[in-house]
Amino acid sequence: MKPINFPGNYMVVELTNNCNSNCIHCIQDKPTTHFNEKGFMDKELFKELIIDLKENNIKFWDLNLFWLGEPLLHPDFKEVYEFTLQNKEVFGSLNIHTNAQLLNDEIINLLINNQDTPQTWHFSLDAESNETYQKIKRNNKTLPITQIKKLLSKIKGPFPRIVIQLIVQELNHDEAKDFIKFWKNEFNKVNLPISVIGGFPPGVIDNFIFLRQLDCVEDVGEEQIKANKLYKQVLEDNGINPYDKSKKLPMPISPGFVNVQVNHNNPHLGDFSEKKICSGFWKTPVISWNGDVTSCTADNNLQNRIGNIKQTLFSKLWWDSEIIKQKRNATLNQDFKEIPLCEGCIIPFSSNYSCISEEEIIYYKQNENLP
Ligand SMILES: C[S@@+](CC[C@H](N)C(=O)[O-])C[C@H]1O[C@@H](n2cnc3c(N)ncnc32)[C@H](O)[C@@H]1O
Ligand code: SF4
Repeated sequence: MKPINFPGNYMVVELTNNCNSNCIHCIQDKPTTHFNEKGFMDKELFKELIIDLKENNIKFWDLNLFWLGEPLLHPDFKEVYEFTLQNKEVFGSLNIHTNAQLLNDEIINLLINNQDTPQTWHFSLDAESNETYQKIKRNNKTLPITQIKKLLSKIKGPFPRIVIQLIVQELNHDEAKDFIKFWKNEFNKVNLPISVIGGFPPGVIDNFIFLRQLDCVEDVGEEQIKANKLYKQVLEDNGINPYDKSKKLPMPISPGFVNVQVNHNNPHLGDFSEKKICSGFWKTPVISWNGDVTSCTADNNLQNRIGNIKQTLFSKLWWDSEIIKQKRNATLNQDFKEIPLCEGCIIPFSSNYSCISEEEIIYYKQNENLP
């Protein structure tokens, strides 16, 4: 079938599952089969993927070049990033999350590319003091402040957008105030706009100090309830209110997405017909460093794997394979024998869920069997 570029879709490409940190909150050192083998995505495989997207007019609202590792460790990161920017028709916005330990001058120069292509860089810092940083990151001694300051001093246009992130948890909640104060001051010094937010960074042109909610990767019960309570308290204590988007320019949206009437502000989207319909098999392909394709970033054990791009082009796997059609039907029929990982999943109710509407499903059904 002809690919459908749904608004709000995103692709995750894991450049590597290796990491130079060992964050206390991360899945990196927890038992998942995804780390049985570690490696780097072959840069030629990456390029073939991008060309496949381009040749088939496939486009993602967001292209995220990381999943469960540290992307700057990739030996060809610069080449991969430049190649992606040269093929900007395949994405709306290019996004990197990094611990910034390898944010050297070469990467800073790569970032100061004076392009109007939307690019967002998240720096996962998680602490204000080096003492707390060491307790959280465990493998790193010093916050990468000098290099981030250097980068900030060179930014002239709207991109890269910068997000300075602290995942709120027991070890760092009492540093949130100083963290905000410190980074606000650094942005002010170089006359860059800066806003403080919780929840999720909105799609507008701004930079953010982002207090992020902790996902408890091992215990989604008691520990998560405690973490959520702490998070709410820290947002309140720091006067972080809902963000007023109206005063900012929206991120530019490039052409090429289908225009299906959808109200993305409706929190009940994806909950039509009393079913909790997840958008994963339509909108959020995740490709692991070795080429395996699955449906969502929560699939650490690749249980929803639909194939591998070394054997089959992504365009065929995602839009023409029998297996993806089966998974989509299983999602629509809530047949969890086919998709056990999805049973009881909370992502369709979370703040960073990409949503799929009834109108989009109807559009898909009308196009499903078209050549
Ligand atoms: C797995 S990391 C990989 C990229 C990079 N190594 C980094 O730390 O930014 C991707 C994102 O997930 C976030 N993250 C990791 N563990 C998390 C957790 N338990 N709860 C919320 N966010 C988490 C990181 O802070 C980062 O923003
Ligand atoms: S730096 Fe990123 S991938 Fe590495 S352990 Fe921390 S959160 Fe996980």
